[in-house]
Amino acid sequence: MLSNLLKHNVRWADERLREDPDYFKRLSALQRPEFLWIGCSDSRVPANVITGLQPGEVFVHRNVANLVHRADVNLLSVLEYAVQALNIKHIIVCGHYGCGGIRAAIDGQRHGIIDHWLQPVRDVADNAKAELAEIDDHDLRLNRLCELTIKAQVESLSRTPIMQSAWQDGRKIKIHGWIYGLKDGLLRDLKCSAPTGAG
Ligand code: CO
Repeated sequence: MLSNLLKHNVRWADERLREDPDYFKRLSALQRPEFLWIGCSDSRVPANVITGLQPGEVFVHRNVANLVHRADVNLLSVLEYAVQALNIKHIIVCGHYGCGGIRAAIDGQRHGIIDHWLQPVRDVADNAKAELAEIDDHDLRLNRLCELTIKAQVESLSRTPIMQSAWQDGRKIKIHGWIYGLKDGLLRDLKCSAPTGAG
C-alpha cells in the first residue's frame, strides 16, 4: 500500500530524531560522502542497504545494467560533481549476477529503446565471443558477461576526461568493479581497480 510508505517515513524520521536531535540539521547542512556508487537500477540491489551506508555516506547513480556511456550527460554530471565538489575517494561500479539488462542485451529479441542503451553490453559480448562460447551453461555464461561488462565500465570510466584530469592533478581516487549476488546477498571484488594496482 502506497500510504504505508508515508507512514513508515514518519516513523523513520521520528526514530532518527530520538537517536540524535540534530540528525537532519546536520545532514541538511552538508553531505560529505566518500563513495560514488554506479549501480544497476534493479530494485534488489540498493546501494545503501547492502553496504550498510547511512544517508550522507554514498552518492548514487543507477541505470539499467550499470553502464558508462561516454556521452551520458546524466552520468558525467554526477561523476564531475562527485569528483570535483564532493571530493569522493572511491568509485564503485557495481553490477549483479542475474542482471535482466545483460540478458536482454543478447537474447536476440527487440525490446525498444533499451536495445540502444544496451549496445555496450553487446560490444563486450562480441569482444569476448571465444571465452563466452566455451561456457555451456546459459546462466553461467550470462553471469560471466555480467562480470566482463562491469570490468569494461571500470575501464570506460577511467578513460573519461573527468577521471584523467583528476589523476593528473594528483587525486588518489580509485575505481573499483564489484558484483553482487542476488542469491546470497554478497558483494565480490572483481579485482579490476583503476588505476591498475589500486587497492
Ligand atoms: Co541489473
